[in-house]
Amino acid sequence: MSDVDGLDDLLARAAERPRALARPELAALLAMDDEAGIQSLFDAAYALKVKYCGKRVAMRGIVEAGNVCAKDCYYCGIRKSNENLQRYQLSADEIVRLAELDAKQDYASLVIQSGEIESEAHTRFIEDVLRRIAPLDLGVTLSLGEQTEETYRRWKEAGAARYLLRIETSNPKLYATLHPAGHSWERRVECLRALRRCGYQVGTGVMCGLPGQTYDDLARDIEFFAEMDVDMIGMGPYIPHPDTPLGVLSAKCLVPSAWCLVPSAEQEKVLSAKCLVPSAELKHEDLSESNAPSTTAPSTKHQALTLGLKMIAVTRLHLHDVNIAAATALQALAPDGRERGIHAGANVIMPNITDTKYRRSYQLYAGKPCLDENAGLCKGCLERRLAAIGETVDYGHRGDSLHFSKRTRGSASLPEPRMRGSASLPEGGAE
Ligand code: 5AD
Ligand code: FES
Repeated sequence: MSDVDGLDDLLARAAERPRALARPELAALLAMDDEAGIQSLFDAAYALKVKYCGKRVAMRGIVEAGNVCAKDCYYCGIRKSNENLQRYQLSADEIVRLAELDAKQDYASLVIQSGEIESEAHTRFIEDVLRRIAPLDLGVTLSLGEQTEETYRRWKEAGAARYLLRIETSNPKLYATLHPAGHSWERRVECLRALRRCGYQVGTGVMCGLPGQTYDDLARDIEFFAEMDVDMIGMGPYIPHPDTPLGVLSAKCLVPSAWCLVPSAEQEKVLSAKCLVPSAELKHEDLSESNAPSTTAPSTKHQALTLGLKMIAVTRLHLHDVNIAAATALQALAPDGRERGIHAGANVIMPNITDTKYRRSYQLYAGKPCLDENAGLCKGCLERRLAAIGETVDYGHRGDSLHFSKRTRGSASLPEPRMRGSASLPEGGAE
């Protein structure tokens, strides 16, 4: 017996047509606790993945081009205020060489990711890289943060096809607890809209298991993906990083349970304090168990992983034809985390092809996997892991989003997302 009433009917209805579920139904699936019910959810989502994408997994080599970042997100290991890491920036030659390696691996797609830098010199640098790798004919995804529409347009003209910009959470109030002043949720939404206007395949995503996040928030996140009509989703579990303010709070057990209860003056004190917690002491298992029942913040690695997988499965069930990546953060929680992501409905994996010497300096969260494996090893290991679950690597294909192909054959009109709460959209998309 599942703890969701009429689970089989619910799953059948969701599989019949996209966007069939109401928010309470999405939340109930995400909150589901019994093993058999969760397995039925994963099976239903995987069947849809196979229906839309086949038993194939699209690969995109990911280049972590630099860890210099102008932002200071409370959860992120490469935030501007973290002095415990060496900053680096790959040269154009280095990025081109990695793109050539990616083409040689026959992945046919490449992701260039880095911290957020907004400057004319950086815009030109990326343009130059894009023009140099254009002859390789790769499907290029950029993940370079918030930029002006003009910059997005220039990069698109220089050869980028897709852009990933996570909204992190669709709840503006929760967003505000995770970012310092000046980090604007509204600007992020506006950037997603600008990317769409520029003609990109647009990807967004969230972290799940954040302190203070509820199942209703996650259900709302999935509705946000639908309303923004995005083509690609990349999301994963939040994993505390010891050199970040939120990681410090996690280690002190101030979060997840008590994050919302800590007086803001106290939060400020901890947030501005330097991290004193050595990474070895930071274990997910240490996190407090006393969450309110509706919060998603997990207390064990297993719970964090299961929540990440449920989020993939429910997103597949609700949206059907989008590309969904099995995030590397899943692998940080279990060695087979990404394969389990595929079995829960994801269809994209992004193996890291950055030189190993830089990987330690690009740790967004604790326990990042494959720090010492070169790209060749990652490739062989992934192939074997996928074969073991009956999936093959879709070599030689860009793996464009089916949703994108469908929507660009139809109307090019922009979506008008409905936003909740006080946050209104610059272009009048508010509820
Ligand atoms: N745990 C999990 N994901 C994280 N990210 C940043 N920090 C963390 C963390 N501590 C994710 C954010 C960001 C992406 C590049 O990495 O969602 O958008
Ligand atoms: Fe770099 Fe958040 S810390 S974008």
